[in-house]
Amino acid sequence: MTPPASHAPGFGPFAPSLAGASVLSLMEHRPDAVDAILQSAGILAATPRAEWPQLLTGRMIALIFERPSTRTRVSFEVGITHLGGHAVVLAGRDMQMGRGETIEDTALVLSRMVDAIVLRTGPHATLEELDRHATVPVINSLSHAHHPCQALADALTLIQRFGTLRGLRVAYVGDGNNCCASLMIVGALTGMHVVAACPPGYTPDPEIVAWCNQMGTSTGGGASVTDNPQSGVEGCHAIYTDTWISMGDEQEADRRRKDLDPYRVDAALVGLARPDAIVLHCLPAHHGEEITYEVLHGPQSAVWDQAENRIYAQAALLGHILA
Ligand code: CP
Ligand code: NVA
Repeated sequence: MTPPASHAPGFGPFAPSLAGASVLSLMEHRPDAVDAILQSAGILAATPRAEWPQLLTGRMIALIFERPSTRTRVSFEVGITHLGGHAVVLAGRDMQMGRGETIEDTALVLSRMVDAIVLRTGPHATLEELDRHATVPVINSLSHAHHPCQALADALTLIQRFGTLRGLRVAYVGDGNNCCASLMIVGALTGMHVVAACPPGYTPDPEIVAWCNQMGTSTGGGASVTDNPQSGVEGCHAIYTDTWISMGDEQEADRRRKDLDPYRVDAALVGLARPDAIVLHCLPAHHGEEITYEVLHGPQSAVWDQAENRIYAQAALLGHILA
């Protein structure tokens, strides 16, 4: 797609764009598309928001939340507003969907009203069903299986700190959950190696690990799994962790706290990584569980930049899909 003239200056390349595409896991997209989004995200991050190109003028974007959110909701709404668009924010429980209206009917109606649908839900299959029936792009803002918007912000944070993603080694420590899967996928698409250090029973989906290593044959990235957090973080550029109890896992809370206890990111573990390693966490954090307060708030923590980068990564993503 040839970008309109107003889009080109200062916003980086739009080719290849994701014009009209949905983003459910990022496994459906090519490395060059992800590179282009990250390049645009970096430009937005470096540009005062008041000077952002008005890429989304007249565009309406539905943000549906079937699960709680702080960062995703605010960052999407702020980014959309600064690009000149409008966000229609909906809590799933307040919609007719919450009283039994089907995903199919909801998709057909919203497609007549908005230009894109961003959905946070539990089952990944709900997003796939919405996408099957919608005639506008659907963006996954978290399912139990994937969190691609988070992973784009994670990658942007690593680029800001290390200048490139190619050749970076990132250790994900803890529960091999949605954030772990999406980090591995973005890593494979961009040339990073992500090692997941997880206890037995909490390892990431082997099909995703295999996909990452297949993708890595062309990008130089890859994924591996260990049950040893100490060897996992050795020589790594970043240590990433996330909650032990994701939304939907509450009934298993006691077992999870016990099983994951040896996987806490504390100062001793961070000391085994490279001296310039950064610490990442998608947030919200649980001090003293998956990460200690001193590490989260310490000098190697990049989590506040990482949270801010949600704005730039998602704005760039929407720019590439809708502009
Ligand atoms: N990291 C993340 O998605 O945060 P929220 O749940 O607050 O949106
Ligand atoms: N893994 C967490 C991420 C929250 C942003 C969850 O799914 O609850």
